[in-house]
Amino acid sequence: MANDLREHTPHVQVWDAPTRLFHWAIVILVFVSWLSVDQGFMTVHLCSGLALLALLVFRIGWGLIGSTTARFRDFLHPPRTVLAYLRNGAGMYAGHNPAGGLMVIALILVLLAQAVTGLFANDGLHFSGPLALLVGDDASTRLTAVHSTIFNVILLLVWSHVVAVGFYLFVKGHNLVKAMVTGKKPHAHVPAEARITFTRSYIALLLLLLVLTAGAVAWFTIQGGAFL
Ligand code: HEM
Ligand code: HEM
Repeated sequence: MANDLREHTPHVQVWDAPTRLFHWAIVILVFVSWLSVDQGFMTVHLCSGLALLALLVFRIGWGLIGSTTARFRDFLHPPRTVLAYLRNGAGMYAGHNPAGGLMVIALILVLLAQAVTGLFANDGLHFSGPLALLVGDDASTRLTAVHSTIFNVILLLVWSHVVAVGFYLFVKGHNLVKAMVTGKKPHAHVPAEARITFTRSYIALLLLLLVLTAGAVAWFTIQGGAFL
């Protein structure tokens, strides 16, 4: 559905519901993953980590078939465009700007690396990730160390991400958080020529179901000991 009602409405829909739900769900899951390991609740840690992994795989699929602003090709730009944007902040974007787009990719990749290394990690006591036996003790211990290190990178990226969002709010007067909640931005903050096509939400649901069923099949195959 093209956004042709813009002359009559003060706001323009820029983010679809699946992208917004994805965002706030991963914020909660990263917090739960940290809290659970901190408190020694490893089963909760496993569940939050697997849920995060499923959502990240979903988001990669949604980046290919989702609405215009959710697609990678909408916010992945060549380095010179990112540098030009960082130098002069020129241009208006309905979705992620070129610098924000790079941050989004970085966040998705480090979160993915965190969840995948977690699968091979162990706590040196009673808990091992579902794939730890596949690689043996030494490799599992090394991957646990990588898992710890990546979390520090996540903290750094999330801190920069929140600072950037704060900069937009307090310096530029753009409330990106409200847009990530409601899906809408004021007219003045969206380029007049922007044409946003929304992929229907049931497609997102089907994609998520596909990811979850594939995950369940993988889980039962591994638990059945087919590879161990
Ligand atoms: C664990 C913490 C967080 C992670 C991992 C995270 C990750 C992400 C990711 C991956 C996106 C891209 C969304 C997409 O296109 O799918 C994003 C966008 C966004 N996040 Fe976060 N986020 C975190 C915390 C927060 C917090 C606390 C806020 C609010 C203060 C926030 C505000 C936003 C906003 C406003 C956007 C849209 C940016 C834009 O308009 O380009 N995020 N975040
Ligand atoms: C895919 C599922 C995951 C599994 C099976 C897993 C497993 C583990 C294991 C076995 C440990 C070692 C615990 C210990 O040394 O006591 C650990 C530590 C940790 N995990 Fe995960 N994890 C997963 C996903 C995640 C995710 C998604 C995050 C955060 C985004 C995360 C954050 C952490 C943190 C912060 C630690 C503590 C590191 C440290 O002690 O320095 N994990 N995880």
